[in-house]
Amino acid sequence: MPQRFSKDEYHAPTSELNLPNQAFNQWKIMSRMENLRALFAERRRGYSLPQGLYTDLAVHDFDIRAIFQRTWLQAGFESEIPTPGDYLTLKVGESSVVVVRNLDGVVGAFFNTCRHRGAQICSEKRGHAARLVCPYHHWSYDLRGRLVQAALMHEGFDRSNFTLRAIKVETVGGVIFICLGDSPPNFAPFRTALEPMIEPHELRKTKLVHTQTLIEHADWKLVMENARECYHCRAAHPQLMRSLRDFTTVRDTSGAPQQWETAFIQNCESTGLPTGEVIGEWYQIGRYALSDGMLSYTTDGKPAVAKTLGSVGNGDVGVMWWAIQPNGFNHVVGDYAFCFQVWPTGPGETVVTGKWFVHQEAVEGVDYKLERLTEVWTATNEQDASLAENLQRGVRSIAYTPGPYSRITEQLVSRLIDWYCDSAETFLRGT
Ligand code: FES
Ligand code: FE
Repeated sequence: MPQRFSKDEYHAPTSELNLPNQAFNQWKIMSRMENLRALFAERRRGYSLPQGLYTDLAVHDFDIRAIFQRTWLQAGFESEIPTPGDYLTLKVGESSVVVVRNLDGVVGAFFNTCRHRGAQICSEKRGHAARLVCPYHHWSYDLRGRLVQAALMHEGFDRSNFTLRAIKVETVGGVIFICLGDSPPNFAPFRTALEPMIEPHELRKTKLVHTQTLIEHADWKLVMENARECYHCRAAHPQLMRSLRDFTTVRDTSGAPQQWETAFIQNCESTGLPTGEVIGEWYQIGRYALSDGMLSYTTDGKPAVAKTLGSVGNGDVGVMWWAIQPNGFNHVVGDYAFCFQVWPTGPGETVVTGKWFVHQEAVEGVDYKLERLTEVWTATNEQDASLAENLQRGVRSIAYTPGPYSRITEQLVSRLIDWYCDSAETFLRGT
């Protein structure tokens, strides 16, 4: 297990411990900022990051503040909270968030922190409630976050001043995105690109049937870098590579469309499915052909679920894929959707969740077997966890120096790291 540190233990040299608290805290902040500025200044474009940006204990807090608290994060699928009163909770750094469907069916999100004295309100990962009731002194909030009951408060106390702090929410095609910051990146281009691609799959009509949680002993950036390339796939993912067609390492250098590609596009067009790829500043979206004759991510390429998702003909849809910086990617095939999310939980520690969604009417044991449905991505995620942890171990060595990303197979890694550094430097300029 990695050693855990409280925030105040980061970079606390004993020689400075006799400074008065305020001065010491100020010194620590300045010192960390200077360290970080130096690390970003040292970084070379097209290369992996300087060691400290993967290993320095202060970087975890910095990444939460500079990245995860300011950007759009995928929070889940709407089908995880299908009924008014259903909620799910998640943690962004130290901040718990509750995502809830209100009585009008609209999804909202709030900081899961009571406006009385700050207790955490919902403690379960998911649940159902008519009101959100703080367990401490039972202040009660409606599903829009309004304080509707607070017993024994003095005269003049005005409940309307104590609404739960709202978090920005967007939904597209049945997927929920949140941003904790006050000035989120522009969501409109992402919506415009994703909506036509995702809608035919009718993800609102799915249900979550399995969740895999992995605690990986690796910095979230190493986990995501690994998730942004398939350079390693052939060697590391025997199950996945039976059905995944890896474009990044097998390319026809002539640029001419190949027969399988033309056939795939024609088939998609005949069923009204858009194809193509959109790469934005913080997202990538596309639809791609699977390997020849494969219809799903299963070990034999045949669907794992008898009921297909959405209005997609016979389920021969390739894979509709989207990814967002910084926290995940998704694959939708004809019969199921798989979602991969990344949550940094401490220095060198990342929680990865894998979720599998099938048609809401599919019945386990009748329409699908869970083991077969989850076999490929379960194995792939475990393989990737090993790779990320191994990468972290190597990066900690005094021998580590940043190495070049392949311009053929690792462009998306390079884009992720460019985006990370640009976002971090923007944040640093404002501090
Ligand atoms: Fe929530 Fe007191 S802290 S009711
Ligand atoms: Fe992988």
